Amino acid sequence: MAVTPAVYGASDRPPRGDYSRAHDDYTCAQNHAAYTEADHDTYRRLVARQSALLPGLACRAFMDALPKLGASDAIPRFEDINERLLKATGWQLVAVPGLIPEVPFFTLLANRKFPVTDWIRSAAELDYIVEPDIFHDLFGHVPLLFDPRYANHIQAYGQGALKAHALEHGPEPTPGAVEMISRLYWYTIEFGLVLENGQPLAYGAGILSSPGELVYSVQSSVPQRTPLRGTADLLRCMASTYKIDSYQQQYFVIDSLDALQGLTAPDFTPLYQALARQAG
Ligand code: PHE
Ligand code: CO
Repeated sequence: MAVTPAVYGASDRPPRGDYSRAHDDYTCAQNHAAYTEADHDTYRRLVARQSALLPGLACRAFMDALPKLGASDAIPRFEDINERLLKATGWQLVAVPGLIPEVPFFTLLANRKFPVTDWIRSAAELDYIVEPDIFHDLFGHVPLLFDPRYANHIQAYGQGALKAHALEHGPEPTPGAVEMISRLYWYTIEFGLVLENGQPLAYGAGILSSPGELVYSVQSSVPQRTPLRGTADLLRCMASTYKIDSYQQQYFVIDSLDALQGLTAPDFTPLYQALARQAG
């Protein structure tokens, strides 16, 4: 299958992964037999190290959900997680070779299918990797997919992003709508903080799966932490560009996972139009 641009983080690097294995919807089989003993060992070490770092930095919902990921003595089989996940929230994991283009990505989410990269980083990349691997996708995202609030939100995001795509490419195009909603995903699902007893803690997968940025995002005095509460904040968030290859300079803090749903429920069409006018 031809390799097309990855869904987030415009980059000159070609996507990593073997896309010739993918079907038309970009999913593939998780070739579990192909993992080496070194791969399983990398997974074990990443889970052990990251789990030990979580207390006091990860939000309660994530701490509560983490055990649902199951044993961490080897790279899990997606089908085993799916048995539990389907019962809990109706979501399913599907394997993908790496980052996939935006429309197939949004379509999977809208259908409660979460794409999980099936390869794992090398031992030399334990501390930092730019693109998502199986550790980021499983450890960062999948525990909260067992939480109905996060699970419903990600599906709504997929549907909303398909709508943004249709608006951008429709009869009266709204330029940049997909980029705007993708930024919101970045600052919530990937790098979001949530208030707990007045303290911002991590719920974003990009922080939860990064040893350095987990500590930095919650404790460093360097980055800005600003509330994501009302329409003005949403507009500011969707106008904020981001870097994919360094720690964030800005984090957006939601009041609760429930508040995230309420905040994103309204029709975003006027927001995209306002931002497009500002940019144009
Ligand atoms: N409600 C938004 C819209 O109408 C879509 C959306 C849902 C955005 C969930 C983000 C998260 O476009
Ligand atoms: Co991610």
